[in-house]
Amino acid sequence: MDNMVHVLDHPLLQHKLSILRNKDTGVKDFRQVVGEIATLMCYEATRDLPMEQVEIETPVAKAKVNVIAGKKLAIVPILRAGLGMVDGILTLIPSAKVGHIGLYRDPKTHEPVEYYCKMPDDIASRDVIILDPMLATGGSASAAIQFMKNYGCKHIKLMNIIGAPEGVERVRKDHPDVDIYLAALDEKLNDHAYIVPGLGDAGDRIFGTK
Ligand code: PRP
Ligand code: URA
Repeated sequence: MDNMVHVLDHPLLQHKLSILRNKDTGVKDFRQVVGEIATLMCYEATRDLPMEQVEIETPVAKAKVNVIAGKKLAIVPILRAGLGMVDGILTLIPSAKVGHIGLYRDPKTHEPVEYYCKMPDDIASRDVIILDPMLATGGSASAAIQFMKNYGCKHIKLMNIIGAPEGVERVRKDHPDVDIYLAALDEKLNDHAYIVPGLGDAGDRIFGTK
């Protein structure tokens, strides 16, 4: 199966992303806009949710209406930076369960190191959206997807705000069954495996740690 890469270039997303990219944007606005972007991306990433028809009564007449067909969803932020996207998704899907994976990139090797994991009990039966603002080398995303597959998850989507071509290729190669949702596909990685032009260190900018 060949995965789809959806670059969501809606004007609202592009505008909000320009705020994140600006180095002068402070922690309060950065955090708020990450959440808003996650909400807008959620709208597109859930476009294929299955529907079913039910009959209801309006104040005027009986009507057949479409509702979401009881799909069980979970969102899984990659700590830390993925946490910034959680509330934005829950705004639209308040009943989604939330699992957490803690990964950080080793600064020398750029390889992901796992330090935390906690999933809902029924995670294997849920459709999963993995959240992380940045898809750089793709090491963290690929490891997180493998993690969820090891839990038995069958339907996994990956949502990143900015991706680099290297990260997209890595996920496509390792997990051809996983669709990727991005608000922007940037040019390249620099020598420190940071996305260019990117937005800098997402975790530090969300939590104000630098
Ligand atoms: C960042 C980012 C991703 C990862 C992307 O996290 O949030 O998880 O790097 O890089 P990759 O595609 O090359 O794996 P970081 O390791 O800086 O941890 P943090 O969220 O705790 O700051
Ligand atoms: N992690 C980040 O937070 N930013 C990048 O550009 C790459 C990895």
